[in-house]
Amino acid sequence: MNKKYAEFSLSGKRLLLGVTGGVAAYKAAELARQLTQAGCSVITVMTESACRFVGPITFQSLTGQPVFTDLWKADKASSMMHIELSRNVDLILIAPASADFIAKLACGLANDLLATICVARDCPLMIAPAMNRKMWEHPATQRNINCLQNDGVIIVGPENGEQACGEVGMGRMLAVEALFFAVQGRLSGGLLQGKSVLITAGPTYEAIDAVRGITNISSGKMGYALAQAALDAGAAVTLITGPTCLNTPAVNQLVKVLSAREMLDAVEKVMSRKKQDIFISVAAVADYHAISVSPKKIKKTDQKLILELMPNPDILAQVAHLPEPPFCVGFAAETDNLEKNAARKRKQKKLPLLVANWAQETMGSDEAALILFDDAGKHVLEKASKQIQSRRLIEHIVQLYEHER
Ligand code: C5P
Repeated sequence: MNKKYAEFSLSGKRLLLGVTGGVAAYKAAELARQLTQAGCSVITVMTESACRFVGPITFQSLTGQPVFTDLWKADKASSMMHIELSRNVDLILIAPASADFIAKLACGLANDLLATICVARDCPLMIAPAMNRKMWEHPATQRNINCLQNDGVIIVGPENGEQACGEVGMGRMLAVEALFFAVQGRLSGGLLQGKSVLITAGPTYEAIDAVRGITNISSGKMGYALAQAALDAGAAVTLITGPTCLNTPAVNQLVKVLSAREMLDAVEKVMSRKKQDIFISVAAVADYHAISVSPKKIKKTDQKLILELMPNPDILAQVAHLPEPPFCVGFAAETDNLEKNAARKRKQKKLPLLVANWAQETMGSDEAALILFDDAGKHVLEKASKQIQSRRLIEHIVQLYEHER
């Protein structure tokens, strides 16, 4: 665990940790330990299947608190244990949240202690889904997740990677470090409490004709992970995104665009409405657009076709050169001379922080190795999932931002 997280005091904060049936329940035990060490009071409620993976005694020993498992076997005089438990906490976190439990939550079922607590709660609910990739991709699960998001439930993860069943894909529960960060953000105001963060993400699409265009292989994963990390840190987040296939985090404002021009217009509009404290330009913005766009599909001939391109505005450079710019963070994906190009771009665009990475390794991938360039020099963030890197990056941004103001 990152030292800074462990140092962060959560004393006086109360969390109800709901554990449902999944192999990732063992990670929840480590999370319970870390949160308890940070001073948080952790009450654990386990479903029947969770108890088949990890015993209640483990959580009881790690948290020093009783563990609740049964709606009917209340060890208290009160028969209203679900109400009592749900009233006395600042946050409920379900980790791992199984496909079954997510379905239950989406329907508002209240047929066991944990589900009943969730329905009876008057505090925020955060869930960390964990399941096999096919279960995660299933239309019913996706429908349920959308439904919960609309109900204001905070969804953290899952992430991509090797699964307990041996398959590889989306559905793995977020790492303990990332979950700790998310809980800490909600419980203690967070590192970015009260700050407005504007993020651009994904590729842009520059039309050539009615059905074709120029784009790139950016997936949007880094920008979306950063949006989630900024939300978890308590920021008000606006996400301006090019076309991606990702589930959008529950940001305060979401703007979907296609071209670089549209992205610039959206950035200007957001900034004219509300001053932004931090601008993180993760989008892989196309450098050129076609001078003329055919309104019809261009017909194939056996002649050479020459496409005339004009440079696009540099959105980040424009924002960074404003008289009173937000704290600007740029990303540079390079295929060669990474450090030299990154340092040059940082100077040219007048950025306090530039994040460099190897394009071939990072674009579209779930993991990234990052090198941060700022006035103090170079900082290496060893390869990790984009979720983890986002949280590390947010921490670094906060340090620089606070130093600058
Ligand atoms: O110059 P280069 O494209 O490598 O710079 C990368 C950084 O600049 C990224 O943060 C990207 O989002 C931003 N950028 C931009 N507008 C452009 C080109 C890049 O905001 N037209």
